[in-house]
Amino acid sequence: MTVEHDIKNIDLATGGRYRIEWAEQEMPVLRAIRERFAKEKPLAGIRISACLHVTTETANLMHTLQMGGADVVLCASNPLSTQDDVAASLVANYEIPVYAIKGESDAVYYEHIEAGLNHKPHITMDDGADLVSTLHKDRKELLDNIIGGTEETTTGVIRLKAMAKDKALKFPVIAVNDSNTKHMFDNQYGTGQSTLDGIIRATNILLAGRTVVVAGYGWCSRGIARRADGMGANVIVTEVDPLRALEAVMDGYRVMPMEEAAPIGDIFVSATGDIHVIDGHHFAKMKHGAIVSNSGHFNVEINIKALREMSSGEPKRVRPFVEEYKVDGRSIYLLGEGRLINLAAAEGHPASVMDMSFANQALAAEYMVKNADSLKADVYVVPEDIDNEIARLKLEAMGVKIDTLTPEQEAYLSQWQEGT
Ligand code: ADE
Repeated sequence: MTVEHDIKNIDLATGGRYRIEWAEQEMPVLRAIRERFAKEKPLAGIRISACLHVTTETANLMHTLQMGGADVVLCASNPLSTQDDVAASLVANYEIPVYAIKGESDAVYYEHIEAGLNHKPHITMDDGADLVSTLHKDRKELLDNIIGGTEETTTGVIRLKAMAKDKALKFPVIAVNDSNTKHMFDNQYGTGQSTLDGIIRATNILLAGRTVVVAGYGWCSRGIARRADGMGANVIVTEVDPLRALEAVMDGYRVMPMEEAAPIGDIFVSATGDIHVIDGHHFAKMKHGAIVSNSGHFNVEINIKALREMSSGEPKRVRPFVEEYKVDGRSIYLLGEGRLINLAAAEGHPASVMDMSFANQALAAEYMVKNADSLKADVYVVPEDIDNEIARLKLEAMGVKIDTLTPEQEAYLSQWQEGT
């Protein structure tokens, strides 16, 4: 009998399975964890509701948790990020219930979150905190079962910290995003590459010689700026934080307010985590043919409502994931409905970098099972020894050796007497 699901088409399963296995080859750290989990079953009897982007990499995480003894269900963490063949394979080949359809409406998206919560989780695994916030708002009766949660992304961690500050958070959550082996690599190199991949797949434009405006200079946006620079674009960075703006200047980028960048830019990408970073008064100044996209978690960074109100007639879909808006006779192209372009028009971050992010997720779930009793309703980081071990395993898998401190060097570092 097939496990419960709400997916696009179960007949897509075989192609999905091949792609999941392809990704697996690039995830050696997660593989090592899966092999240990299969023997030790650290998650035996634990129900996990995961709300993540349904990708080949996530499928490998789900399989790892399952091998650890967990009873897992998966729902989408974004209406446009689901890979329908992966959803089909998880149901048909891995017997994991999945509730996710690429292009689902916001109403169906929340129905799927409800379906994920109906699993009565002991552990929540979130990407953006929609599962946890829905649980706290509408499904409080589930709180008794929960031992804790994990959170994948910057935006989710910001929301959880706001919940903790308001004393609204009712169980401990581990901020996987805050591990060094997550944000220094996934956010920077993963987002850098996959965002440009999404823009290129959607538009097939040449980046060399174009002006790319990157909103923000956090871990994600600096990755985007770096990759756009590497492909020959002229990069402009916009920021609100003086320190980050200074870093962008010293990294060689032009820095200016969005108001000044708006008439210059050919391609705009936002990755700030904040609302209306690209707004109506910016659209009013953009060139004919400007391309506007977002790589932040939620589709709030671009004020799409303003764009719609300014434009004459209905937007025209000129290619998959590209809509043309007519503003005062000029064309402005919005990519992927303003949703995260790397997952809407491409496949998200490559498996090799998700290997470390999802190693953190798997080990955070194990840590939660072992330590929940000693944790309060607050936001925690993955312990440093786990973070460092993931880095060590990744280097080992890559065949990279490093030096170790000699006893003399260790002694030197722990003393204060010796100076000039
Ligand atoms: N977030 C960004 N890229 C991802 C991927 N490939 N899988 C799951 N979550 C992601």
